[in-house]
Amino acid sequence: MQQATAPGKIILVGEHAVVYGRPAIAAPVWGTVATAILEAGAPGSGCLIKASDLGTCMRLRDAGDEDPLATLTRLVLARLGITGEPDWQIELHSEIPIASGLGSGAAISTALVRVLFAQAGVEADPAVVSALVFESERFYHGTPSGIDNTVIAYGMPIWFVREQPPEPFSPSHTFLLAIADSGIRSPTKETVGAVRRGWLADPARYEARFDAIANLVRQARVAMEAGQEEALGAIMDQNQERLAELEVSSPQLEQMIAAAREAGALGAKLSGGGRGGNVIALVTESRASAVRRALLSAGARRVLFTIVGGAAS
Ligand code: MEV
Repeated sequence: MQQATAPGKIILVGEHAVVYGRPAIAAPVWGTVATAILEAGAPGSGCLIKASDLGTCMRLRDAGDEDPLATLTRLVLARLGITGEPDWQIELHSEIPIASGLGSGAAISTALVRVLFAQAGVEADPAVVSALVFESERFYHGTPSGIDNTVIAYGMPIWFVREQPPEPFSPSHTFLLAIADSGIRSPTKETVGAVRRGWLADPARYEARFDAIANLVRQARVAMEAGQEEALGAIMDQNQERLAELEVSSPQLEQMIAAAREAGALGAKLSGGGRGGNVIALVTESRASAVRRALLSAGARRVLFTIVGGAAS
C-alpha cells in the first residue's frame, strides 16, 4: 500500500492579478489535506480511481479525456514510463472543501501524482509534480496562473510570478491567520472568467487595478520580512478593496471580513477566487478566539488557524 498527502493553500495577497503576470504570495495549509491511497488490485482488474468526495468512481480504461483525474493519471503513467494499465485501486479523499478557494482540486491532483510516483519508486520532485498538476488544473479553471499547483506541490510559502520558477519565501517571523469558510461554493473558473470579461471590456482600467494589487504584494513581502504585523494587516485590507473593485467579493464575505476586523483582526480579505469560499484574517494570539467567535456569528461554517513563516510553515 502507498499513501500520499497534499495540503490546502491560501493566497495571502495578489489573487486574480497573478493571472495577468503580477506577483502573489501564497502559503500551504497543512491543517486541511487531501490524501491518496493506492493498493494493488487483482490481476486483470485494471486501474480503478475512486474519489468519494467528488462522487467519482471510474475505471481508467473507461474514462474519457474530459475527466481531469483520468487524464492526469494517464499523463503520470506516461511520464513514469508505465505502459499498459496497471492493476491498482486508488482512493482519493479530501478534507478541503471543494470550490472554496483553498485549492481542493490541485491538492487532490497533487496527492494522486505523489502516490503514483511512490508506487513506481520514483522520487517526486516538486517542480515535476507541479507541472503535471498544472495540466489538470486547466480542466478546473480554464486559465490558471499556476499558483495553486505550485504552492501545494512545494508545500511552503512562495512568492509567485506566472511562468517563472517560484521563490520559496519563508520569513523568520510568524503570522497567525484565521481561515473562515463562508460555506458558499464558488468555482474559480467562474470568477477568473468574470474578471477576464471585465478586462476584455476595459483593459486599461483593469491593468491599473492589477498594478495597484502588485504594489500591495511587494509591500506585503517587505512587511512580512520585517515582521510588521500591523502593516501586513493594513495591506490585506487594501487588497480586499481592490478585489471588491474587481467584483469578486460578496455581501456574505464582506460581513465576515467586517466582523473579523471589529473583533480585533489586524486585517482581513477574501482568499482565492472569491464570491464565496474562504476569508483570511490576520490575528494576534490574544484576539484569535474573539475573531473566531465573530466569524462564526457572521455566518462562517468553520474556522481554521494556520501559521505562515518561521519553522511552522
Ligand atoms: C485561485 O486560487 C487564484 C486565482 O488568482 C486564479 C489563479 O491564479 O489561477 C483567482
